[in-house]
Amino acid sequence: MKAIVECQEDVAQGVRSFALRPASDSAEFEVAAAGSHVDLFLAQDLVRSYSLYLPAAKGDPYRIAVALDPRSRGGSRHMFAHVKVGDEIDISLPKNHFPLTEDASNTVMVAGGIGVTPLMAMATRLTRLGKPWTLHYAAQARTSAAFINELQELAYASGSSVHFSFGDDPDRQRIDLPKVFACAPLDTHFYCCGPKRMIDAFVAAGEQRPSRFVHVEHFGGVTPTGSDQSFTVRLARSGKVLTVPAGRTILEVVEQAGISVAHACKEGVCAACETRVIDGIPDHRDLVLSKKERGQNQSMMICCSGSVTAELVLDL
Ligand code: FES
Repeated sequence: MKAIVECQEDVAQGVRSFALRPASDSAEFEVAAAGSHVDLFLAQDLVRSYSLYLPAAKGDPYRIAVALDPRSRGGSRHMFAHVKVGDEIDISLPKNHFPLTEDASNTVMVAGGIGVTPLMAMATRLTRLGKPWTLHYAAQARTSAAFINELQELAYASGSSVHFSFGDDPDRQRIDLPKVFACAPLDTHFYCCGPKRMIDAFVAAGEQRPSRFVHVEHFGGVTPTGSDQSFTVRLARSGKVLTVPAGRTILEVVEQAGISVAHACKEGVCAACETRVIDGIPDHRDLVLSKKERGQNQSMMICCSGSVTAELVLDL
């Protein structure tokens, strides 16, 4: 879809929000529930996924917030240096791999840095539904943490609680993840978005809870390193049989063979390249599929995952 940057605003040090509207006056964006993200096609081979920080009802703009990452591989640097109000950007339809269970009795969220964006959307949605929530929000510094005031207002409005943990606060209380899980009722749904270290600790702390109650979303992707060893992909629709050499990805090899496959982030986070597996066992390296989905062996992200078996048969 074509979108226009309607406004942009610095919402914290190194964090900029952007509101995107349909480029055509007669068009409307699809409704996007809390937890949704869109892919922005910023330049040739530069596609980035950003969570919406507010749910979008019919006619609403899509609102995203971007943190300028000093180790940026291009996405956030491009957003800060080149994207201006009035620019036209191609974006994907919204996707949601991090849906909110709206009828949960209890919701506990854990945010790290700019990972707060989908959780801000969830807190907003739960507040509108009149449901209480708890958010633990860690950031390097108070000045670089987005949406502090908004979250406090939402918490006040809904009788919810938000706990901040800022690295530059002399009285900082670190988020005690085992305690977060231990203190919550058994029917609590838990959500975490943040850096990998935080998500790993969150998943470890929630190990005793049924996996359907523990939800995570990564905001940084994996660096596709290609497969460790060579394997074959048989493409069921085209009948082609291709060899994926060590160090290459399936996506690269398939595209080189002249077959065009939808893709965006190329780092295992957006699911644009999700492909049905007909036979064989993938070596999943993406950050999208849950343990259960991996076990079902129905699909894989071909931009970063390899193969455990000598051959994979894919629905391509
Ligand atoms: S292109 Fe985004 S997960 Fe593969």
